[in-house]
Amino acid sequence: MALIGVFDSGVGGLSILDEALRQLPQHDYIYLADSANAPYGEKSSEWIAARSLSLCRYLAGKGCDAIVLACNTATAEAIKQIRTEIAIPIIGVEPGIKPAAMQSQNNIVGVLATEATLKSDKFNALLNTLPNDCQFIKQAGAGLVPLIESGKADSEATLELLAGHLEPIQDAGADTLVLGCTHYPFLRKAIRKLLGESITLIDTSDAVVRQLRRQLDILKPSDSNSEFGSVLLLSSKNENLLLSMAQDLMSADLASHLVKAQFLGEVR
Ligand code: DGL
Repeated sequence: MALIGVFDSGVGGLSILDEALRQLPQHDYIYLADSANAPYGEKSSEWIAARSLSLCRYLAGKGCDAIVLACNTATAEAIKQIRTEIAIPIIGVEPGIKPAAMQSQNNIVGVLATEATLKSDKFNALLNTLPNDCQFIKQAGAGLVPLIESGKADSEATLELLAGHLEPIQDAGADTLVLGCTHYPFLRKAIRKLLGESITLIDTSDAVVRQLRRQLDILKPSDSNSEFGSVLLLSSKNENLLLSMAQDLMSADLASHLVKAQFLGEVR
C-alpha cells in the first residue's frame, strides 16, 4: 500500500482524487488544497513555482511515495523544478490537447484553461508538437475558479461568466473542448447547458491516474489485501468546507474510506 499526495490550488484536484479512488481505492491519500491562495492561475510564474515546490516538499516530508500535481497551472510552472528537488515520482496534469486534436472531427478545438497555463512555455511547447491542421481556440477562464471554490459551480453567476468565455469557442464552431484546469470538470453540467450534448469534453484525469498506477506498479507492487485506504483532506483555508465540498463534488464512495479533514498551518 502506498501513500499518495495529491496537490491543487484548491478543490479542483478533487476531480483527480475522485478518479484515483475509483481506480486505486486501496492506497492512502493526502489531498492538499491551498484554497487560501486560490486562484493560482492569475499569479506570477515565480510565485506559483515557489509555493508549489514548498507544498510538494511538505507532502514528501509526510512520507508520500508519489505526488500527483493535480493542477495544470502548477504542472506548467513548477513540475521541472519539483522533479529535480524531490526524489519521488511526481505525476503532472496537462491540458489534453493531443487527444482532443485526435478526436475532433472538424479540427476545431476549444481550450479552456487558466491564464498562467495558456501563457506557459510548457503548454506552448506542447502545442508546437501538434500538426497545424488543427485550430485551437484558447480561452482563459478568468473568475471561474473562485466561483467553484465557493460552491457555486451550478449557479446563474457561473453560467453567465462561462457563457462569455465559451462564446469565441462556440463562434469558431469547435466540436471538442479541452477542460484544461482540474476545477473545470465540476462545470460539466453548466457547459452542457450552454453548449449542448454533442460537443466532446476532454479531461485527462483517467490518463493521469493510469500514469500514477504505472509508477506505483514499479515502486510498490500491491502488498495489501485492504480494499479501501484512508483519505486525509488538508486545507489552508477551511477544512470543514473542503470536506463538505469533497462529499458534494466527488462521486467516489468516501464513506468506505477513513476520511479526516485538517487545517494546514503555515508551510515554508
Ligand atoms: N486547478 C488548477 C489548474 O488545474 C488551478 C486553478 C487556479 O488556482 O487558478 O490549473
